[in-house]
Amino acid sequence: MSRPRAVFAGSGTAVPPICVDNHRLARILDTNDQWIQERSGIVTRHYVEKGTGSADLGAEAARAALEDAGIEPGEVDYLVCATMTPDHYFPGTGPLIQERLGIDALPALDIRQQCAGFAYGLQLVDSLIGSGAARTVLLVGTDVHTSLMPFTDHTWQVLLDGGEVTEEEYEWNSQFRHLVVLFGDGAGAMVFRAEEGDGERGILGCRLYSDGNHKDILYVPGGGSASRPFITERMVQEAGTVPVMDGRQVFKLAVQRMPEVTAQVLSEHGYGVEDLDLLIMHQANLRINEAARKVLDLPEERVHNNIQKYGNTTSATLPLAFHEARQEGKAKDGSLVALTALGAGLNWGAVLLRL
Ligand code: ACO
Repeated sequence: MSRPRAVFAGSGTAVPPICVDNHRLARILDTNDQWIQERSGIVTRHYVEKGTGSADLGAEAARAALEDAGIEPGEVDYLVCATMTPDHYFPGTGPLIQERLGIDALPALDIRQQCAGFAYGLQLVDSLIGSGAARTVLLVGTDVHTSLMPFTDHTWQVLLDGGEVTEEEYEWNSQFRHLVVLFGDGAGAMVFRAEEGDGERGILGCRLYSDGNHKDILYVPGGGSASRPFITERMVQEAGTVPVMDGRQVFKLAVQRMPEVTAQVLSEHGYGVEDLDLLIMHQANLRINEAARKVLDLPEERVHNNIQKYGNTTSATLPLAFHEARQEGKAKDGSLVALTALGAGLNWGAVLLRL
């Protein structure tokens, strides 16, 4: 007997209310709209209000996806949450989303694969449904990057309400300009249902990799179990809780590996790039995605980018872009869609889906 297929049922997003353009960032650090647009493609990004965590955003996206699928929260029998910015050190964000949705107890787990988190989540969904462990799975990608930004309360006030930062704040913030301009907050979710029979719809295959040899090119040095206590005042003062990123290295790896793994998953399932209706790539830099598109020789209309509006939203990026592409009619019932991502870890991969 064939295994059940994980068939896409609905998607939804949560975009937080505060929209910050490049000019606003230039008020608090040494940057400008032209540099950010030319080097990354980003025009705006969205931030949560202080006090909103990844569980709040994730629950909002989950509700939207369930509504889109016409599925009641109580029908979900497994919840997978991808986030690198959980509300707490523990517990994970999965149970917090379950609680916010008012669903009875169910398995709800967190995965920590950063920008590749949603791609890893899709493989989990496929395995859970394929093995018969679950029939209706809710997959959420949610990240609140503003929690990692090294700004004082006063800097935040200036950024959001106007005024001027101090010289000291300006210098401090500018040290992180290559990083903070890239990220935004957001969440996205997809719902999958088990379907039996010989149909063609569902997750067709996944190809995922992790390689810790590249761990130093993107990571947060402090705030974990390798420190005792896990956080200290000194660590905060020395920016040990702020991500360290070798942007050029990440850039090079992304340009090489996203197209490579996309071509691999396609060929493993008997397809070529020409069969692909839509490619959703992680949104870290528009130049990365342009280069990757050219490597694959895909026409522009078969790729959907939205980094211009949201920046890099990590685990939320793939579902945010996928949902928008669906809304714009770029992905319809029957479309062959590939989703690919690369992020800290290093983790990367690609997933093939027939809608
Ligand atoms: N505004 C103005 N100037 C800036 C800024 C800024 N925001 N940031 C850096 N610069 C300056 C640098 O200081 C440097 O100046 P210098 O020449 O005087 O030294 C100059 O611009 C060039 O800097 P580069 O780092 O060489 O710029 P590059 O073209 O490589 O772009 C960027 C930097 C945008 C970070 C790019 O490398 C990139 O996007 N990398 C990939 C990032 C990424 O994918 N992150 C993944 C996150 S995934 C996850 O798991 C979270």
